Amino acid sequence: MHCVQQVTPQIVWVGGNDRRLERFENMFPLPNGVVYNSYVIMDEKTALLDTVDSAISALYLENIEHVLQGRNLDYLVINHMEPDHCANIGELTRRYPDVKIVGNKKTFQFMEQFYTFDKRENYLEVKEGDTINLGKHTLRFIFAPMVHWPEVMFTYEESEGILFSADAFGSFGALSGNIFSDQADFDSAYLAESRRYYANIVGKYGAQVQAVLKKAAALDLRMICPLHGPIWRKDLPYILDKYEHWSKYEPEKKGVVLVYASMYGNTENVMNVIANKLAQKGVCDMRMYDVSKTHPSYIIADVWKYSHLVIGSPTYNMGLYYVMESLLHEMAGLQLQNRKVAVVSNHTWASMAGKVMLKIIEEMKNMELIGSPFEIKSSLKESQEAELDKLVEDIYASVKE
Ligand code: FEO
Repeated sequence: MHCVQQVTPQIVWVGGNDRRLERFENMFPLPNGVVYNSYVIMDEKTALLDTVDSAISALYLENIEHVLQGRNLDYLVINHMEPDHCANIGELTRRYPDVKIVGNKKTFQFMEQFYTFDKRENYLEVKEGDTINLGKHTLRFIFAPMVHWPEVMFTYEESEGILFSADAFGSFGALSGNIFSDQADFDSAYLAESRRYYANIVGKYGAQVQAVLKKAAALDLRMICPLHGPIWRKDLPYILDKYEHWSKYEPEKKGVVLVYASMYGNTENVMNVIANKLAQKGVCDMRMYDVSKTHPSYIIADVWKYSHLVIGSPTYNMGLYYVMESLLHEMAGLQLQNRKVAVVSNHTWASMAGKVMLKIIEEMKNMELIGSPFEIKSSLKESQEAELDKLVEDIYASVKE
């Protein structure tokens, strides 16, 4: 049976959840599933904003049929041409052969790369600022290139002040009936997953997010309808402020994330000693992760949140322990910047981990090294405690700055 909800009197949510998918983009774990949002506007003309992933096509098509009540679909707007939102374009053009597919030049380029269409007569190419009038509702197209793909655009509905924001302001996590963020206790249910989604999916493109936030600031914004996660109809400044911080690579909070690789527990021991000493000095809300245990997307999300990072790793095969190396390259690839970092290394017969970690960190933007790198040979000895205390003091002083 159809499963839809009214967003406003003439706009209906027709999306759906997938709680079976293990990994988003076959990479990011989804312990709470994911939602694919899509919206129908019922006016003198009808419009559908984006489609959904193939996993939920059957329900989705039933939803649309139910909402349209026998009416034709006049417009299908493609804000984002990634397959998790585009699996149903072909079927919709078969069901509604006269539908105008609304996109930009890149949208149609990608559409033809992913799928085989011979319906070019249905294309309606728009440019920045173009509008389509549906009756009471008017859609205005605002380009958001590289948030996080080049063809991405937002659609702003002028009469109700609604921004259909593609992947921006989205989140991992399925919706539990409460499709609005104000119904869902956002902080406990979605904030961490929203940050993890941002940092890992969109994080690389902070400058482009900044550019589109400036465009959004000029709009009378009353609602944000993303393609994943809950809809924002209240407290919009809350999520806009999060995006300000995240896109400027500014920590939300002072705090320390400790991340280590450890083969036999000796590097882990150093990290625990550092954390204990920091805690005794009064540092709260620290997070510690074993890179071999926790998926990097969770670690990166916390690194995005907090101001300080302590990384520790042994040398491996005369280089850096591979999992740590991969994590640091991922952080660098996502353009992480503006963090203060302390480095701990371990070796038995070749000292390389510290050098490789420092090189990667130094090549990142505005990363400040705290104190001197600390190194152990195989295990931490009591004789090194004074040196370690100095590093702890330096970290503490930096956190308290
Ligand atoms: Fe949800 Fe970038 O696709």
